[in-house]
Amino acid sequence: MNPVGGGFAMSKYEDNSNSRLRIGILASGTGSNFDAIAEAIDSGRVDADISVLLCNRPEAKVLDKAKARGVCVEILRHGDFDTRESFDAALADILDHAEVGLVVLAGFDRIISATLLRRFPNRVINIHPALLPAFKGTDAQGQAAAYGVAIAGATVHFVDEDVDHGAIIIQAAVPVAPGEAANSVRQRILAQEHRIYPYAVQLFAEGRLSIVGRKVIVKGRKSPGDEAVISPPLPD
Ligand code: GRF
Repeated sequence: MNPVGGGFAMSKYEDNSNSRLRIGILASGTGSNFDAIAEAIDSGRVDADISVLLCNRPEAKVLDKAKARGVCVEILRHGDFDTRESFDAALADILDHAEVGLVVLAGFDRIISATLLRRFPNRVINIHPALLPAFKGTDAQGQAAAYGVAIAGATVHFVDEDVDHGAIIIQAAVPVAPGEAANSVRQRILAQEHRIYPYAVQLFAEGRLSIVGRKVIVKGRKSPGDEAVISPPLPD
């Protein structure tokens, strides 16, 4: 068993049981996942605080959402940096300074390099709008709709050095109607993202995640029943 964190404590804040998990969220776009996590914190479903929102696009709507919630915002334009590594080092410096125990990618449109990952080992998570390992990369929902899958979905995973590849924490499956437009699939997947991403953060906050090989063990999880998402549905 290889507990998250690469050592024996699952996370930095666990060393001091009085301190709440501090998270840094990296986002580039609309920020609906940012909002879902912030809302879950406000309503007590997630025991964590958002220490900083880091954004690489000054026009991103997520900035308004963060300011409206009084979250500290840092804008770092990736174009101002010569290399991915220097950009990632600057991100990591801010996250370090904010004493972040978990880095949450929520629609961040830059690939994260080893420069940042080495400074937050097993402490960077991402949400991808597909049932990985299917439909990696951009426009996963469009890829799924064009492929004609009957079930699409979303995945929260630890980030490693390969894109959309790290150990899977939680997935949600969404049935797809025949001929359903990509945008409709996108919206229905997004609704599930807003349920599973805050929960994944809470599992981390509770110290319930460990990584074994490329598998995540969720301490105390319920066994799955024999319920299934079947698409098209069976007749009554
Ligand atoms: C989501 O679909 C997420 O899965 C992907 O980027 C999108 C971000 O949406 N990584 P939002 O900015 O959180 O609304």
